Amino acid sequence: MGLPFFPVIGVYDLGGLRQPTSSNPHLLKVQVREGASLWVGKCCWICSDPYTVLKEYVCYRLAKILDLPVLDCQILKDGARFWFAVPCIKPIDNFLDGFFLGSENADIIPGMLAFNILVANTDQHEDNILLEHISDDPLKHRIWMIDFSHALYERGRATLPQDLTVYDCLPLDVANGVITGLHNFEPFLKKLSLIDGNEIVEVVESIPKELIKPGYDVAREELAKFIIDRQRNLEDMLKSAKIFFPNWR
Ligand SMILES: Nc1ncnc2c1ncn2[C@@H]1O[C@H](COP(=O)(O)OP(=O)(O)OP(=O)(O)O)[C@@H](O)[C@H]1O
Ligand SMILES: [Mg+2]
Repeated sequence: MGLPFFPVIGVYDLGGLRQPTSSNPHLLKVQVREGASLWVGKCCWICSDPYTVLKEYVCYRLAKILDLPVLDCQILKDGARFWFAVPCIKPIDNFLDGFFLGSENADIIPGMLAFNILVANTDQHEDNILLEHISDDPLKHRIWMIDFSHALYERGRATLPQDLTVYDCLPLDVANGVITGLHNFEPFLKKLSLIDGNEIVEVVESIPKELIKPGYDVAREELAKFIIDRQRNLEDMLKSAKIFFPNWR
């Protein structure tokens, strides 16, 4: 991850998103030298949960290692503030199950569901899945996972959830539409089994200091252990929820 990145020249509210729990993402404009000129960013000084930004960093890095569809993240600098940011993409107008299943990368859906269980994400509902508009004729779009602000730690605290069930982590409003056919978890479980614990430790150890609000650092060893334990248990966790995946095995 390159740091510092080229400077932010405009910071704009995304507007209309100010619910009490919102991480208050902002639209960030940067000078175009490479990559995108418009980004969506979160800042640890602005999010209501001071851990949001580091959760995003860890989950984006892990998702990338697991070949899941997450946008390329960057840290953007805006004066004294740093933002965890991803390119702003153009979504399709409305999210429909049919579009979701017809996405050009729909084969990643089981991995996406399983990943939410891995990182204890309780918030991967439709607003946190972007369907990028690629073309109208033929109709083409692509799934991107966003928003891990409700993953890993309990909201607003550096406390790892111990009693979260698989059901808590399954975005059922999304999953219900796909659960009848698409649940071949094997490719994802295979990939996950190939990840060395040291890689997970490296991700957790590498959280950039710019993303940590002073006074709100986290216990790295404990966090890595939490993820590694869930990596080991994921297959069993999925089996325990088999009622949702009748066609799996
Ligand atoms: N890269 C992006 N490109 C286009 N739109 C985006 C992008 N990232 C976020 N958005 C839009 O902004 C909305 C809010 O972003 P996000 O889900 O990351 O934060 P949030 O929901 O405010 O966080 P929290 O879950 O903490 O309340 C998304 O639902 C989506 O509509
Ligand atoms: Mg969201």
